Amino acid sequence: MNQLIVKTKNLNFSYTKTRKDIEDLGLEVPKGSIYGFLGPNGSGKSTTIRLILGLLKKQSGNVSLFNKEHTAKTRLENLDKIGALIENPSLYGHLNAVENLKIAANYRNGISLERINEVLEIVKLTHAKKKKVKAYSLGMKQRLGLAVSLLSNPELVILDEPTNGLDPKGIIEMRTLIKELNEQYGTTIFISSHLLSEIEKTCTHVGIIRDGKMLYQDTVKALKQSKGKKMMVDLEVDKFIDAMTVLEELNKENTSLTDEFIQIEVESKTEITTVIDALRAKNIAVYQVSIKNNLEELFLSLTEN
Ligand SMILES: Nc1ncnc2c1ncn2[C@@H]1O[C@H](COP(=O)(O)OP(=O)(O)OP(=O)(O)O)[C@@H](O)[C@H]1O
Ligand SMILES: [Mg+2]
Repeated sequence: MNQLIVKTKNLNFSYTKTRKDIEDLGLEVPKGSIYGFLGPNGSGKSTTIRLILGLLKKQSGNVSLFNKEHTAKTRLENLDKIGALIENPSLYGHLNAVENLKIAANYRNGISLERINEVLEIVKLTHAKKKKVKAYSLGMKQRLGLAVSLLSNPELVILDEPTNGLDPKGIIEMRTLIKELNEQYGTTIFISSHLLSEIEKTCTHVGIIRDGKMLYQDTVKALKQSKGKKMMVDLEVDKFIDAMTVLEELNKENTSLTDEFIQIEVESKTEITTVIDALRAKNIAVYQVSIKNNLEELFLSLTEN
């Protein structure tokens, strides 16, 4: 059985009484994976990350880390095995990379100068280790932030939109680093993004969140296959038999659900209009049209830059 490094079950959280910001979220990050947590702006990625790390207190549900329930008791032990880079890394501009890492190392136990040099090597900043951080590019700062999170040699690294604001070169460097970290050290990586293309290039697994709900979770391989799939649409009509005949004339694959509902497959939204027009032309009332598997629209919103 595949070991899960992060597992949440029925996780719920609201910032205010008026809405649910995270709703019944079930998330499963297998050991050794690069898990892409994908969702448009405001969908709840950062909130979920804060809940996983215990920076926000969950209101109901479960979080397990390293196969153990994440509680106040296990929290410190768990956090020792996690490196996180959320929002902008807090770095001192007037100090160089080694000095910044030494300060960060002071907060943890037993981090040697050797390890500091190692993490600089991993994030490819050895050449700039004596340079003041205020002279770093954004990409270099982000890599130094990653180096800080790697100091304690974590089993799990959590990165909240690590490529945000980086130029194409910076994005490629970060992507390469993430893959190397995973391949060479077996580190499990949890990375959030609002770009489908980014996740497809980097990750082995994906979870798609919108409005605080997990809409899809699988391997990236399965995601690529399901992207080509058609949409399922439920129609509520009055003259059921007549409607089935019209759909057959249109060569539309259809299944009756009940005496009022018919489910059809369409390739795109425009095809829905064609179907409605054909039904209306035969005087069949259409009371409801609901799109069931609307990954298509979701993917579109995730592809926009
Ligand atoms: N401190 C807060 N107080 C109240 N509401 C908040 C707070 N932080 C986030 N929210 C709301 O919770 C929802 C989820 O926000 P969150 O920051 O988790 O989304 P996100 O997926 O990380 O978005 P982004 O891509 O913009 O970083 C949004 O509706 C947001 O407005
Ligand atoms: Mg966020």
